[in-house]
Amino acid sequence: MCGIFGYVGNRQAGPLLVEGLKKLEYRGYDSAGIATINNGEIEIRKDVGKIEEIERKVALSSVGGTVGIAHCRWATHGGVTQKNAHPHVSLKNGISLVHNGIIENFSDVKARLEAKGYHFETETDTEVIAHLIDSHYRGSLKDAVLAALKELEGAYAFAVLSSKEPGTIVASRNECPLIIGVGKGENFVASDVPAVLAHTREVVYLKNQEVATLTATGVELFEKTGKKLRPDVHHITWDAAQAEKGGFPHYMLKEIFEQPFAVTETTEGRISDHEVLIPEIEQLLDVKRIIIVACGTSWHSGLIGEFMLEEVARIPTEVEYASEFRYRNPIIDTGTLVVAISQSGETADTLAAMREAKEKGATVLAIVNAVGSSIAREADVVLYTKAGPEIGVASTKAFVGQVIMLYLLTIHFGWRRHLLDEQQVRNRIRDLRLLPLQIQQILDEREEIRKLAKRFATRSNALYLGRGINYPIALEGALKLKEVSYIHAEGYPAAEMKHGPIALVDKEMPVVFIVTKDDRTYKKVLSNIQEVKSRGGHIIAIASKGDKEVNGTADEILRVPRNSYLLNPLLAVLPLQLLSYYVAVERGFDPDKPKNLAKSVTVE
Ligand code: F6R
Repeated sequence: MCGIFGYVGNRQAGPLLVEGLKKLEYRGYDSAGIATINNGEIEIRKDVGKIEEIERKVALSSVGGTVGIAHCRWATHGGVTQKNAHPHVSLKNGISLVHNGIIENFSDVKARLEAKGYHFETETDTEVIAHLIDSHYRGSLKDAVLAALKELEGAYAFAVLSSKEPGTIVASRNECPLIIGVGKGENFVASDVPAVLAHTREVVYLKNQEVATLTATGVELFEKTGKKLRPDVHHITWDAAQAEKGGFPHYMLKEIFEQPFAVTETTEGRISDHEVLIPEIEQLLDVKRIIIVACGTSWHSGLIGEFMLEEVARIPTEVEYASEFRYRNPIIDTGTLVVAISQSGETADTLAAMREAKEKGATVLAIVNAVGSSIAREADVVLYTKAGPEIGVASTKAFVGQVIMLYLLTIHFGWRRHLLDEQQVRNRIRDLRLLPLQIQQILDEREEIRKLAKRFATRSNALYLGRGINYPIALEGALKLKEVSYIHAEGYPAAEMKHGPIALVDKEMPVVFIVTKDDRTYKKVLSNIQEVKSRGGHIIAIASKGDKEVNGTADEILRVPRNSYLLNPLLAVLPLQLLSYYVAVERGFDPDKPKNLAKSVTVE
């Protein structure tokens, strides 16, 4: 994920570009840069580091000119170096360009451009777009962009300048977000709305493969055929706080809605049709055993990881509460890989467990969301979940990112240890690609969950039950409910409940079963539902669409689309997150600020 910002008008662009970048820094902070057109010449400043550091080093904001583009990067193609930082240039026609996304056919296009004499300076796919536009330039930057789009495959949002047209920015997108801020005597382009709100509330949401040209006096819009379109300008009514929340009433809901992106961003650059790419673990492929250490929701994702790694990659895996692990004198040898999972990368217990493991000679791989955090810095290998900043105290999208990363690790280990053949890898990647749309479907059909929440909100206790790979989802559902609605809830393995918790069941007790179709425990869970039903429990089932067997057993059924048994948990968790959120709101609590909880637990 990267951030894009552009300005054209009559004010000095430098300070505005830096201010816009700061609003977008959550999208990427390993490097940043800006390009302006100053006295007819392209002027570029860029470097690695956070925006503040780069500003101190190279004074980004003092670049001259009243038109410019800016970028904050989270590397996917090419390492974190000054050279690979954006903007990228193609000098024949004074082209400079910033880009978010991945050009999938970049090596083919690159080969064609090299044959035409273009020389590549960087390892990025972005440079291909700059040269491609340059190669089509015949006096109109907009026409060159339209011609280039025909040759580009993949996801992109970009903004481009040419020193031959000093008062114009051209921008386009496909699958990656990009908006135009329409001002008075000035216009803006940005990766999201909050970045322009200090200047304008009039916004055009660019659609896939549309091309926009921005000058100080206007915005023109074209479809990919070159046909002119009338821009559809939306007036943003959100206040500043709402803007940060993307128009949602709470961060928690915004972040639940960002989960399709958490999947695509975390997999970006890591999958092709037939393989998973995790070059970072090349030295770790023959590990004998894995110990996962984590806390809270991250511990739940670890439990799903345990299931996947043992089932598919056949690596003995244990999951430990980080806070218990270090006081147990754990047995670790050089064949042990310790995997630390953390959203914040700052959780004191996870950090301490990881240090303990390193001291005992283990290699530590961290799965972390917050770039540059302590756990990321101290691990031997770090894999970032790219869920974006998680502000809501209750973790939602980071959990999805973690499970996705564990799934990618599992396929990679499975393939490299010859337990999956190429067709199986293809199938698992195909399943993964279905997920964002399936998540979106659940979000679109949330009304039923909201209605259920009204009834649920009056209860004082709840039981969440699941088996196998869905057992951690029962734990996660119960944790989410406790955290934000303060209703007491327990997650339990569905069959284990008859060894105790079933004593609590009566008609006042909602019992939530996760009973998705493709799990091998499906039939067993149906029997567990019968056991609870016969004791008068009120049963809510999270079940697969099209499953008729569950009808008649449960009092209420929330349906989720069907994927593979390994990915179904990521669909089952959605209604539980939404249920917790709506129950909290129904009970009058602010889900973003649960009492007694901190986002990052930096004390032991
Ligand atoms: C639950 C939640 C916490 C965190 C836990 C670990 O919604 O957010 O349980 O999962 O405190 O935090 P990280 O993942 O930052 O190490």
